[in-house]
Amino acid sequence: MTFHSMWAELLPVGRSSASGGYRRFAWTGADADCRDWFRAQAEARGLTYEVDRNGNQWAWLGDPAEGDAVVTGSHLDSVPDGGAFDGPLGVVSSFAALDELRARHVKFTRPVAIVNFGDEEGARFGLACVGSRLAAGQLTVEQAHRLTDADGITLPQAMERAGYDPDTIGPDPERLSRIGAFVELHVEQGRALDLSGDRVGIASAIWPHGRWRFDFRGEANHAGTTRLVDRRDPMLSYAETVLAARREAQLAGAVATFGKISVEPNGVNAIPSLVRGWLDSRAADQATLDTVVTGVEKAAREYAEAHGVELDVVRESFTPVVEFEHALRDELARILGRDKHAGLTVPVLGTGAGHDAGILSGTVPTAMLFVRNPTGVSHSPAEYAAEDDCVAGVTALADVLEGLACR
Ligand code: GLV
Ligand code: MN
Ligand code: MN
Repeated sequence: MTFHSMWAELLPVGRSSASGGYRRFAWTGADADCRDWFRAQAEARGLTYEVDRNGNQWAWLGDPAEGDAVVTGSHLDSVPDGGAFDGPLGVVSSFAALDELRARHVKFTRPVAIVNFGDEEGARFGLACVGSRLAAGQLTVEQAHRLTDADGITLPQAMERAGYDPDTIGPDPERLSRIGAFVELHVEQGRALDLSGDRVGIASAIWPHGRWRFDFRGEANHAGTTRLVDRRDPMLSYAETVLAARREAQLAGAVATFGKISVEPNGVNAIPSLVRGWLDSRAADQATLDTVVTGVEKAAREYAEAHGVELDVVRESFTPVVEFEHALRDELARILGRDKHAGLTVPVLGTGAGHDAGILSGTVPTAMLFVRNPTGVSHSPAEYAAEDDCVAGVTALADVLEGLACR
């Protein structure tokens, strides 16, 4: 199968006809369809297919037990109304790169695997990179058991309903010890490559980032009969906090976003009793991120007090800065800088987006390739990469895999 035909096959899966965006949430029907697709691709190529104890899918060429494997891949799930590329581009490109290597008749000297990590976006249970975090021991079994979706379904229940055994979840050091290098190809989520005029780049670092839940509790009351002075309206302190987040981020040269909110009782004619908002904040370094989040929380407390509202702030997840391993990064630059790319230096860029590669980087040598995104838009149906650039990404990934696994 060509890149084009694989892409076309996956394109309708989990796509909302209303928004044109993807709703491929962990352990749902759309996720199952993506997983079936992955399995079919593995089997069509005669690769050894396996699902690990955390529900991540693997397709092996060569003997996994040999160790020092070169692994590539990404994820197939999406954010709510996400784009087609974030995740799937890496998985589809991995199969296409393997096909290209076979067409080149290379001789593999190391095992190679393609992986689809489960629940990278955290759209359903609120925590990103659940599959890789569990495997790397960065999420405990107890914490995973407490993850609950908007309908009150826990992660183990969701896994079970999808036909997976939740009793096996947990750290998987044996499996990760098979990996000598992990390379994740991903659509760029910014415009650095567009501005530099390059199709493909190499990742340097991932900004530290986290998610904080702000619960503003006030008093439900009648929207028509309650005098303004008598209200304890949590929506007001929430709204002011959104503006504070923007201000703090701007001052610090960071980013801060309230992109998800839940309101109780959520009635047009009722003052809310609870406004729960999730802050996502990221910065180039830890100190800056701390300054932003501390500033937002301080402002939120002042606003809450002014409105007679109670506030709880809980950090739901945090990923420290990731500096990708220099030796592997330099190896990628060397591989991509020769032959067809002769004379060209491959741009090396940082990103504010989180990735499974970032989670694994604490355990195995890890690197990332980015493919140009002309508008930089991501986590939206407008996310895009031109087919020529995707094909250049496949060639770059094939070159990298050949350089690493066929020495
Ligand atoms: C995942 O894409 C994230 O950066 O939140
Ligand atoms: Mn994403
Ligand atoms: Mn992604």
